[in-house]
Amino acid sequence: MKIMNVEFVISAVRPDQYPEDALPEFALAGRSNVGKSSLINKMIMRKGLARTSAQPGKTQQLNYYRVNGRVYLVDFPGYGYAKVSKVQRQQFGTMIETFLGDRKPLRMVLLIVDIRHAPSKDDILMYDWLKHYEIPVCVVTTKADKIPKSQWPKHVKMIKQELGFHPEDRHVLFSSETGLGREELWDLINEVIEE
Ligand code: GTP
Ligand code: MG
Repeated sequence: MKIMNVEFVISAVRPDQYPEDALPEFALAGRSNVGKSSLINKMIMRKGLARTSAQPGKTQQLNYYRVNGRVYLVDFPGYGYAKVSKVQRQQFGTMIETFLGDRKPLRMVLLIVDIRHAPSKDDILMYDWLKHYEIPVCVVTTKADKIPKSQWPKHVKMIKQELGFHPEDRHVLFSSETGLGREELWDLINEVIEE
């Protein structure tokens, strides 16, 4: 997809701060440091717009990026980062649950996992939770550049098995380093918007 313009709209901590224009939203969930913000930057072709870091726990609010005036990519704080305080973790938990349980414009959650590793307990919990609330899911296995192509199928199969991947879900192989999967993910987003 051709990116005409991208606006960073808001870093929201409360529901009354979420945008009210009802454009379709695609939220990115995943472990801290898995590469959510990097994926957004790759999708929108802006290197530093979504803040990334080798230090986990960088994204702490729901960050809304409006693309071409027609869709929001919503960057979530990562879960499972041990150094975040218990109170902070509970706050994130509540914020994400409120959002996922009650956000009308939400069209799909992109569950971002590292292709190299089995999904964590939190990934599995998140996945089960999304299924329970019947939120459409696309599992994005990212950092594909970190393992040889010949190993991709084996890893993808293992990750799908561990998650209990449902046939109606989608999957995209991705790399924020090489851009692999970028067009495929935009095609999917456009398809979902037009449904
Ligand atoms: P939090 O905001 O803490 O939840 O992290 P995040 O999920 O947004 O991760 P972020 O995008 O900040 O990336 C974490 C680290 O992984 C950075 O050092 C990135 O450069 C690196 N990274 C992300 N995606 C890829 C990828 O596809 N390939 C490679 N090789 N590195 C990646
Ligand atoms: Mg981030």
